[in-house]
Amino acid sequence: MIKKKTIVCSVVSLCMLLGTVIFAIGASNTGPADITISADGKKPAQFSHKKHQDAFKCAECHHGMAADGKQVPYVEGQEIKKCGECHNATVLAGKMKDKLALDTLKGAGHGNCVECHKAKKDEPAIKDKKIDKCDTCHPKK
Ligand code: HEC
Ligand code: HEC
Ligand code: HEC
Ligand code: HEC
Repeated sequence: MIKKKTIVCSVVSLCMLLGTVIFAIGASNTGPADITISADGKKPAQFSHKKHQDAFKCAECHHGMAADGKQVPYVEGQEIKKCGECHNATVLAGKMKDKLALDTLKGAGHGNCVECHKAKKDEPAIKDKKIDKCDTCHPKK
């Protein structure tokens, strides 16, 4: 009897363990499908996160920061923070990329989003959409 109980117990705990593992994989955080960045700001930006995820790697947009303030490339499973947690006047004070102020959310957004939209705008399949235009991301109110 005791033996049988032990076996049942092991099977149950094995199933629970397996369930936890599957749950952990299934729940890997990909964030919202659609995001309005700076929804309360002067110029909210609409962003189809899911659609972009289907087309591009996470590392295309997400990265981290080392203790010395240098950018570190995205690694799978890393904790993802909002752009504005680093791209603000305190954390990245005075940092520039070309003419973009990286210590603003606009600098991060335009440096990432607009750069790619400019690079891809003439691809035959999407040429007509003119994805480099302001109102692609900042819809007219
Ligand atoms: C084309 C750019 C882009 C790609 C590709 C992308 N993301 Fe994002 N992601 C963003 C932006 C922009 C935000 C909004 C950040 C903000 O609100 O400051 C975001 C938000 C998130 C958030 C929510 C963060 C928070 O605290 O609100 C998670 C989680 C996330 N992304 C995970 C992923 C994962 C995982 C992948 C790859 C499967 C991925 N993203 C691919 C740009 C991208
Ligand atoms: C954990 C902090 C952190 C977060 C979160 C973060 N960044 Fe950055 N980012 C940096 C650092 C550090 C640099 C390098 C700044 C320098 O020294 O020039 C950088 C550089 C950049 C650059 C210029 C260099 C390049 O790669 O083109 C862009 C554009 C950029 N980030 C966009 C974004 C966007 C968009 C998000 C949100 C999806 C984001 N960042 C989230 C820390 C961060
Ligand atoms: C690595 C390239 C890349 C980056 C980075 C990128 N996009 Fe895009 N985006 C595209 C392409 C390509 C399309 C056209 C997709 C299509 O219509 O097939 C697009 C389309 C869009 C559209 C049109 C609506 C839609 O979803 O079809 C919006 C809005 C948009 N992007 C906003 C943003 C914002 C905001 C960011 C930054 C947070 C961003 N994108 C970053 C490549 C990029
Ligand atoms: C591919 C997407 C995209 C395109 C195209 C784009 N922007 Fe942006 N813009 C953003 C993102 C993302 C931000 C940062 C979040 C926010 O403030 O909405 C931003 C921020 C801004 C801000 C700062 C708003 C504030 O409250 O500080 C201004 C101003 C702005 N954009 C103007 C423009 C103009 C003008 C154009 C056309 C010449 C343009 N943008 C094209 C994505 C885009």
